[in-house]
Amino acid sequence: MKKVLLMSIMATSFMFAEGVVDRENMKVMQDLETAVAVIQKGFFYNNEGTVANGVNDVKALMKNIDAFKIQNEDDLKFDSHKYAKDESESISKMADTLLNQFKGNKKDDATRTYSTILNKCIACHKIIRKW
Ligand code: HEC
Repeated sequence: MKKVLLMSIMATSFMFAEGVVDRENMKVMQDLETAVAVIQKGFFYNNEGTVANGVNDVKALMKNIDAFKIQNEDDLKFDSHKYAKDESESISKMADTLLNQFKGNKKDDATRTYSTILNKCIACHKIIRKW
């Protein structure tokens, strides 16, 4: 009986370790989608406070994705943990850049940085969803 229980606990943790993502991570992603939409709203309403709110949310959420483990069967040497960590740092830095550009009235630069951030979101999703 004990053995069976242990086996099922092991199987569950193995599933989580190898699985694409758990529910908590999904919530992080949904919140991220909201955060980037807030930044976009700030662009359209030309509101620095709104852009800053979105940027702060993105940066706070990025702290959660650096622990993501992503499956990539195509490349067994792919270090998903390192990738997620590097991407989260890079997206956080770009979010700061975007806000500084917006504050400096370099709106074109700010929207270009925004688009680079979105491309980074999609790049990770491409790996996961094998698009
Ligand atoms: C390091 C990898 C990674 C990065 C970077 C990343 N995501 Fe995700 N995202 C995931 C994973 C893993 C899932 C869940 C797997 C799936 O949907 O196929 C996901 C799913 C999502 C979903 C769907 C959630 C749902 O409930 O179906 C949204 C929305 C999303 N991400 C938004 C974003 C946004 C916005 C960014 C950029 C600011 C971003 N993601 C960057 C890994 C990432």
